[in-house]
Order: sequence, then structure tokens, then C-alpha cells
Amino acid sequence: MKVLIHETQATAVDCVAGLFADRLKQEPETVLGLATGGTMEAVYERLIARYKAGDMSMAKARSFNLDEYVGLRPDHPCSYWYYMRKKLFDHVDIKPENTFLPCGDAPDPEVEANRYEDAIAAAGDIGLQLLGLGANGHIGFNEPTSSLASHTRIKTLTRTTREANARYFDSFDDVPRLAITMGIGTIMRAEEIVLLAFGEAKADVVAKMIEGPVSAACPASILQMHRKVTVVIDEAAASKLALRDYYEEVHPEVRAPS
Ligand code: PGA
Repeated sequence: MKVLIHETQATAVDCVAGLFADRLKQEPETVLGLATGGTMEAVYERLIARYKAGDMSMAKARSFNLDEYVGLRPDHPCSYWYYMRKKLFDHVDIKPENTFLPCGDAPDPEVEANRYEDAIAAAGDIGLQLLGLGANGHIGFNEPTSSLASHTRIKTLTRTTREANARYFDSFDDVPRLAITMGIGTIMRAEEIVLLAFGEAKADVVAKMIEGPVSAACPASILQMHRKVTVVIDEAAASKLALRDYYEEVHPEVRAPS
């Protein structure tokens, strides 16, 4: 696991946008795994700026998002379809027909989850996967105790996840209880993973993910078993890491960019 500790959120976001753009330059047809949530918003802003500056193109890429709420139509303002269109897709050159999310309003969500898993596999699996990190250790909506080998399926959201996401809805009770999420096994098949987390509120879970035991109690800890993961964090999120000095020694260029 490559752990990059940035002094500020701004340079951490630039770093992730840079990794993303570099990958697309090397391989324009990359299958992208995309995430939603507050942390990703700044990344998408940077990607849009790069696209407008002629520094990144998504014209040949395909994308699969991690998850979607069960019961929300794609045009619902709290759906992740809506988020992706507003925060990224409408502002860059990715072809709409190459963007995929699970359909939250599918008549049979279980069938939809299986269809989505098959579509990812048929695309050759994810090339570059972006991840945020839930305060409870979730990646996608794989809540604690999720099978570490799981495929795309329906998950019941924890109360803490629904509380964290209530800010996007009119009230807590409006936050759906179920979501369709890529499984942990699905995510682990990605060739390369970049996870971004900020702030003191994530410090405990960042330490568990990087230095704790691999355990379904902290689903993100499975990333220790992946061959190519880059964790990009700010100093606040790094504050509980026991081996912080070591990570800084291994990657001095993060603190003193040339
Ligand atoms: P956040 O969510 O970026 O809004 O903190 C991350 C997540 O829950 O995966």
C-alpha cells in the first residue's frame, strides 16, 4: 500500500486528479470505477478544470460507479446518477452511453445487482478505481461485516451511514435503507485503486484500514491484500497512524514537490 500524506486537502486532491489524468493519458480506454460523496466533489472539480484546460479527455473511457440507492430514480436529485451528471459527466467529454450506475428504480433490485456485476466483468473489470472511505470503514456501501469476497448486491445501510448522508436529503427518514453496491470482491478485481480521505473524523478508520488487522469489521482493511493501492490523505486523517514517519520517509516528494 502506498500511503501519501499531504499537508493540505488541496494538494491531496490535485494528486488524485493527477493520477487519474495520467492513467487516461496512458490508456484512454480505461474502465474507470467512480465514487460519490463529499470527498470526491473536489476531485471532480479538478478533473473538470483539467478537461477545460485541454489536459484530460474521457472521450474513450467507460465508467462504472460503486453504488446507488434502492428506490431512487436516476433523475431524483439525491440519486447518485444525478450527482454524477451534475458533478462530472455534464462537464467533460465522456459519452453518456459509456457511463454506468446501478438502476436504483429497477423492478427487481436483486436482478439489477447481478446484471451490474456481469456488466463490469464483461467490460474486463475496473482498470482504475476511485474510493472514498466511510467513517465506519465502508468502501462503496459495503458496511462492516460485509463478505470480503462479495459481488454486487443489495446492502442494508447502517444508521451511521444514513446519518452521515442525511445532509443531502430533506430529513433522516428520507434516506433510503437499501443500496445496490459493487461488492468487495468486485472492487478487489480492479487493477489499480486510489483511495482518498480527509480530516480528523477519518483518522481512526484510516489507521484501522492501513495498520489494523484485515477484518470484515473494517471492510477497507481488505485493501491491504490488493497489489496496487494508493491511499491519499491529509495530515488530519493521518494523525492516528503509528508508522506515519515511515510513510513520510518513503515518499518525501509528497511534502517537497520538485
Ligand atoms: P464522504 O463519504 O466522502 O462524504 O466522507 C465517503 C464514503 O462514505 O464512502
